[in-house]
Formats: sequence, structure tokens, C-alpha cells
Amino acid sequence: VRIFIPRDAAALALGAEKVAKAVAGEIEARGLDAVIVRNGSRGMFWLEPLVEVETERGRVAYGPVKAADVAGLFDAGLVDGGNHPLCLGLTEEIEFLRQQTRLTFARCGIIDPLSLDDYRLYRGFVGLEKAISMPRAEIVAQVTESGLRGRGGAGFPTGIKWKTVMDAAGPQKYIVCNADEGDSATFADRMIMEGDPFVLIEGMAIAGIATGATKGYVYLRSEYPHAIATMTQAVEIARKAGILGPSIMGSAHAFDIEIRSGAGAYVCGEETSLLNSLEGKRGIVRAKPPLPALQGFLGRPTVVNNVISLASVPVIMDQGADYYKNFGMGRSRGTIPIQIAGNVKHGGLFETAFGLTLGEIVGRIGGGTATGRPVKAVQVGGPLGAYFPPALFDTPFDYEAFAAKDGLIGHAGITVFDDSADMLKQARFAMEFCAIESCGKCTPCRIGSTRGVETADKIAQGIEPEKNKALLADLCNTMKFGSLCALGGFTPYPVMSAMNHFPEDFAPTPLIEA
Ligand code: NAI
Ligand code: SF4
Repeated sequence: VRIFIPRDAAALALGAEKVAKAVAGEIEARGLDAVIVRNGSRGMFWLEPLVEVETERGRVAYGPVKAADVAGLFDAGLVDGGNHPLCLGLTEEIEFLRQQTRLTFARCGIIDPLSLDDYRLYRGFVGLEKAISMPRAEIVAQVTESGLRGRGGAGFPTGIKWKTVMDAAGPQKYIVCNADEGDSATFADRMIMEGDPFVLIEGMAIAGIATGATKGYVYLRSEYPHAIATMTQAVEIARKAGILGPSIMGSAHAFDIEIRSGAGAYVCGEETSLLNSLEGKRGIVRAKPPLPALQGFLGRPTVVNNVISLASVPVIMDQGADYYKNFGMGRSRGTIPIQIAGNVKHGGLFETAFGLTLGEIVGRIGGGTATGRPVKAVQVGGPLGAYFPPALFDTPFDYEAFAAKDGLIGHAGITVFDDSADMLKQARFAMEFCAIESCGKCTPCRIGSTRGVETADKIAQGIEPEKNKALLADLCNTMKFGSLCALGGFTPYPVMSAMNHFPEDFAPTPLIEA
């Protein structure tokens, strides 16, 4: 019997290690013929640590399990999928999972992340094998045809980026995976790297073959020690198995990967700043052009893609561009792993085709607020994303639909707030965040964010509120159009959306006269 207990950082934070120890103790004490598999997370964080048992009927889930529950679970016949108050039935039939379309996360939480056998059992490396036998241009055409767009946030067509690098001349080209995942409420990159690292390795190898790059780097944030450990081990395993190295799976293609860790700067998630950091320089933004696709790492043609963009490529190569393209709406094709967080009942990862409305995601899927109070606002797209009020909950999850409402999908993290949130404080927080994280290269961002904090404070204190609101809007306008990168350029989104959709929070009661 195989008993699955996640090794995902979120599950560990909720006590999975203690649960695993307790389960091992019971197996030993009862002399049972059972093994523990440390899998990734299924992404249902309110049920973590989620313990699963393989039975003839399929996997049976129990959660959230505490170490103190373990003996009772064994008494209730856990190894046979026995009944217990914590039993959730068959994992695959849990509503939150059943409603998803898992293409990129197809294996996450199911396999042992570091088992090549497990990976192969679930169609691992089928896409890579196909790519090996294809001409470069055809791989790039497939990725373009699939409609895949950059999942890091900007939504730039992945195939077009790859074509730029494929066509660029250079003695050496690189694939750089942006695994800096600095946005609040995002954890999709981490979950893939901890739960299915070979899919990222496979995606990077395909990108290498397609563009002629023989070297890849994963720029992984230092705040993700578990992901760093898993990815490092996975790269070693892949190298030993001949999947990475001078001859990918015995072919004429060479490709290898190095894991590099960042040092905690949000701006190093911006691609040019990331490249500087990777080169050992200070993480400061470079002007574009030149595009990294033409002059990137060490001045050479470089693909910089987010983890999810690269991890989505194997299924496209395996099942074909049409298969992937048939999911989604408008120009947003395929699936998107939505990360639901904040004040919400059912927080976690929900992979689905583009097109669900924000209201469905927050209400039907997320179950509303954890506090049970009414939802006041949802921030979509990390700290630089706009706050959406319930009046805009009919907006479908689609790049263009969000842009049309002055918002962005970004890396698809959403943070839910109940009616106790103070949106003026949230606007101030956005400015403060920008002031702290600014790389300092350009004035609107460096100075504007600090002036923004001061101005928000004046509004809160009731000092000339009308004049200061106009000043805050003016600052936002300057930052939006005068900043070099998305940090300064997008900070106005949370600020302006807070001001426009929640004007009542920007009109505090005037100071009481003595
Ligand atoms: P961008 O629009 O400047 O560029 C998008 C990508 O397309 C870049 O890689 C760029 O080099 C490439 N590109 C543009 N034209 C090209 C061409 N002709 N050929 C080849 N490549 C081309 O956007 P940027 O500044 O890279 O990203 C901004 C986004 O980052 C925001 O929308 C935000 O949502 C997101 N973001 C994500 C975070 C995360 O944690 N994932 C954190 C902060 C921001
Ligand atoms: Fe640096 Fe801010 Fe300018 Fe971006 S907008 S380059 S983070 S100062």
C-alpha cells in the first residue's frame, strides 16, 4: 500500500512533516506492509496536510490531518481507505479538483516528484521525444499555433519570442527560466518545481532544441528553499539519466541546466534585472531595446520565460497545438493555473481554461471569504494588479477582458478581501511596496512612490483631501507613463482602482475641531 503525504512547502508549513513521522511510526508499530510517498500538493490548501491512500477504488483522501489524528486513522482502517470523520472520499471526486482542467498540473500531487518512472508513467518526455525528431521551425510553429502566451504576467506570445531567438545569430544562446515568483498570492511556479520538476526540465529542453540554445538557467528565489532543493536534485537525476547533457536522450541535441538563486529583490523578477543579477551584477533594470531575445544573458540571444510558460510546452508537443488551443476564449488560449488566496474559504490552485468569471472563481470555487463577511474587493495579478469590486465580478478571466476594465491577470494570483478592508490603506500599501522595491533607476518610480505614500497619508489625515486626491491621480499618471519597467508602471493600477471603485474610503471623516 502506498500512502501519499505531500512534501510541498505549503503542506510542510501546515505540519506535513509531523504527520509523515506519525504515519511512519504507526506503520512500524503495527507491522504494516505500507510505504510513504512524499508527493507534491494537489493545491487544496485548506485540506493540507492531505493524506492519500492508494486503494482498488482509486486514491482515498483524508484531511486536514494532524499528527494527533494519525493513530485514530489507522484504527479506522486507513490503509484500506476506511471511513473516518476526516475521510474526503476519492480524491479525484473532490469538487474543487473535479471541476478543473489540469494540463500543466496534470501530474502535480499525483506522482513522486523525483521519480523518473512515475513521470514517464504519466506521459513524461513524450513531448520531448517528439521535439527531438522535429525541425526547429516546426516546434516553434506548434508553440505559436497553440496560442500559448507568457504566463509570468505580460501574456506575450511564447512562440513569437522563441522565433526571435531561433532566428537570431549568435555563437551561444540561452534559456532562462524566471522562477522568481515575487507576486503576492502566487505559488503556481513553486508548486510545479516542488511537485513536478521534470515537466519544467522537459519544457526547457524543448525550448533549447527549438531555439538552438544549449544552456539553461533557472533563476529561483531564495525564499523557496524546498523548490531549490527539489529542482537541484531533479536536474542531477535528469543528467544521470541522459535527459540533460551533451546528447539529450541519445540525440544530436545538447542541453544542460543550472539552478541559480536570487537574493530577495522583487524587481529581479523583471527580466532584464534578473539577467543582470544572473550575471553577478546589481539587480537593476536595463532599458529595452535591445530585447533579451536578441541581447540577453551575457549579451547573447536569450529566451526568458516564466516557469508555467515552459511547463505548459510538453503537453502542447505531446497532444498537439490544436488540443491546447481548443481550451480558452478569445486570444487567451489553453489553461491558466489560478491561485486563490487572501481571505477566502477554499484557497489553493485551480487550473482551468480561460473564461471563468471572477465572481465564479471567488464565490463558487473559492467559497467566499473565510470570515464569512461579504467580499469587498479582489486584487488580481499580484501587488501591481487592480482591485476589482463585486460590480465587476462578471469579468471573464481573459487577458483582454481584464485590460478593458483597467486591470491585469498577471501571474493569475487573486487575493480576496472582506468588507473590513480599508482601500485607502491598500492604496498606500501599493505605493509603499513600490518605494521599498524600486531599483531606483528612474525618477517617477523612485520619487513618485515615496510622494505617493505621503499623499495617501495626508488624505487619511483629512488634510486637503480633494487637492491630495488629484495629486495622487497625477502622480499615478506620471508613474504609469514615465516608468521604465512594470514596477513603477503598474503600481498605479492598485492605487487608481482603489480610488475609483471605493471612493468612500478616500473620504474619511474630517478632523474633529478642538
Ligand atoms: P513586456 O510587455 O515588456 O514584455 C513581455 C515579454 O515579451 C518580455 O519577455 C519581452 O522581452 C518580450 N518581447 C516583447 N516584444 C518582443 C519581440 N518582438 N520579440 C521577442 N520578445 C519580445 O512585459 P514585462 O515587463 O516583461 O512584464 C510585465 C508583467 O510582469 C506584468 O504584466 C506583470 O503582470 C508581470 N509581473 C509578474 C510577476 C510574477 O511574480 N510573476 C511579478 C511582477 C510583475
Ligand atoms: Fe527601477 Fe522602478 Fe524604474 Fe522599474 S520603474 S526601472 S523598478 S526605478
